Amino acid sequence: MDTVSDELIAKETTTWTGDTSAPIAFPLRGGDGRPPRPAWIELDVACWRRNFQLIRADLPPGLEMLSVVKDEAYGHGLLPAARFATEQGVKFLAVSTVEEGVKLRDGGVQQRILILGDRQEAELPWCVAHDLTCCVAEPGMISKLARLAQQAGKCVAVHLKINTGMNRYGVRWNEVVSAAEKIVAEKSLWLEGTLSHFAQSDELDKTFALLQLSRFNEALAALAARNISVSVRHLCNSGGFLDLPPAHFDMVRMGILPLGVFPSQVCRRIPGIEAVMSVKARIASIQNLQPGDHVGYGMRYTAQENRRIAVLPIGYGDGFPRVRNLGCALIHGKRAPIVGGVSMDALTVDITNIPEAKLWDVATLMGRDGGDEISVHEIAKIKNSASYDVLCSWRGRLPRIYVNDEPAQ
Ligand SMILES: Cc1ncc(COP(=O)(O)O)c(C=O)c1O
Repeated sequence: MDTVSDELIAKETTTWTGDTSAPIAFPLRGGDGRPPRPAWIELDVACWRRNFQLIRADLPPGLEMLSVVKDEAYGHGLLPAARFATEQGVKFLAVSTVEEGVKLRDGGVQQRILILGDRQEAELPWCVAHDLTCCVAEPGMISKLARLAQQAGKCVAVHLKINTGMNRYGVRWNEVVSAAEKIVAEKSLWLEGTLSHFAQSDELDKTFALLQLSRFNEALAALAARNISVSVRHLCNSGGFLDLPPAHFDMVRMGILPLGVFPSQVCRRIPGIEAVMSVKARIASIQNLQPGDHVGYGMRYTAQENRRIAVLPIGYGDGFPRVRNLGCALIHGKRAPIVGGVSMDALTVDITNIPEAKLWDVATLMGRDGGDEISVHEIAKIKNSASYDVLCSWRGRLPRIYVNDEPAQ
């Protein structure tokens, strides 16, 4: 199906005002009338909204959901992700850089924004000015943030990061009290939340996750013993939300699940959740090979018999894994195996068994076509990586096209 319609391409670039009843229009290609590149990413807006609704319906009563929208919502678009989360009543968003937080504010987002990771001192004034809520643990940073907040005449919320075993950020679980007391002593700071992060929550073996949970509980008990109250305690990512209800606390932080991708093959399923993102390209050239002909750099494929080869104008420069003779595309609902090595701007697939395939037909590199699907997990396998990496690796030069945009119900 030809989904890149002229109408979509003609849409103007706008930013979202933060008003969920306003008509939606996202940046497509700059709106300058250039023809679309014959390789693109499609994001199914109806599916994205449905995923949020299904997750909302699955949330136990009273449990808040934070939407992790860092790295352009894993390549899906920062502002669209913020909008769909907001439509579902999500009050907290999370990013990982000050730039992402400022982009959300400039786009009109009024939700609370938590900025994950640690901040350099020079970033703190930006966080205070744009109401970006920091995760803190280190005493020097707490003092500096408190001073800046006081100068700005604000009482700034912070979330205390607890290291329960991930050993990236945060204060060790059995040393939380002094950091918490330091925050509480600062009049310009408000210890709103405390968090930790699972190293592994979506695999069948929950041994380490349960150890992290018990350490988190130990830290919370130590705070309670000092009469330090924290209203937003959060530990779970998507895997923890799905598989570890005792770790839900007050809020769960979800990045990958609303995008329709389960964090692992073995975690609990919510029926109806489907992948939002597809990656497509059109056949830009067809070559008829004779026995002994090679394909591409390094002559990594040699035809043993007459073969029909289609060239798709998408390569590792767009984020497709740089594999050789591995993986496939779907054309007319059938699998066309990749032959030869993937180059920067092109890859080649064998269409001998798809005689109806012709120039400029659509090929699906990731997503559904007919009754078949190339999932993000399948691509992760050929890349020897994880679905997260595949989603985030699609490069900015692939236009993002938002399809099936119907108003929220
Ligand atoms: C601190 C933190 N919380 C939550 C998430 C969301 O994880 P997921 O995409 O598995 O839901 C991430 C993502 O990396 C994270 O770094």
